[in-house]
Amino acid sequence: MTQLSSSDYVPDMGRRQFMNLLTFGTITGVALGALYPVIKYFIPPSSGGSGNGVTAKDALGDDVIVSEFLATHNPGDRVLAQGLKGDPTYIVVEGEGAIANYGINAVCTHLGCVVPWNANKEKFICPCHGSQYDPTGKVVRGPAPLSLALVNSTVTESDKLLFTPWTVTDFRTNEDPWWA
Ligand code: FES
Repeated sequence: MTQLSSSDYVPDMGRRQFMNLLTFGTITGVALGALYPVIKYFIPPSSGGSGNGVTAKDALGDDVIVSEFLATHNPGDRVLAQGLKGDPTYIVVEGEGAIANYGINAVCTHLGCVVPWNANKEKFICPCHGSQYDPTGKVVRGPAPLSLALVNSTVTESDKLLFTPWTVTDFRTNEDPWWA
């Protein structure tokens, strides 16, 4: 009578496990493939914009609608919105019915406090250590070492505001952007 040693079973067990794995993998793959449109439906678009841009969002997380925004804001206003990477970013109202082609990142370049706009003094004044920035976000008083970062701000055909990274010369300093 032939005796089977334990080593004779090992390849069989290995094959079975492998087949199980293969079957499981196939079923899982098919199931995920079938579920993909459903899953995608429930996942909101991450940026809401095109390419590496984002649509500006208001305090409630809704897209800023430019015509509505301009109807309720005045020339000279600096209004916080949610921008690139979720950073608080100022929308700049330049003139009657016009949004500037740049937005200003509100994160202080000293230690990262969000810098409020002081309309009376026409400056951004940091509450943490007193740094000041002019209406374009250019630093005018330390300890902040650098001006506030800029983003491009573009009105889209669908009446929304698109923020994209600012990669060209900083028009306030005529230098390369320190944040790019
Ligand atoms: Fe703004 Fe220090 S964090 S001045």
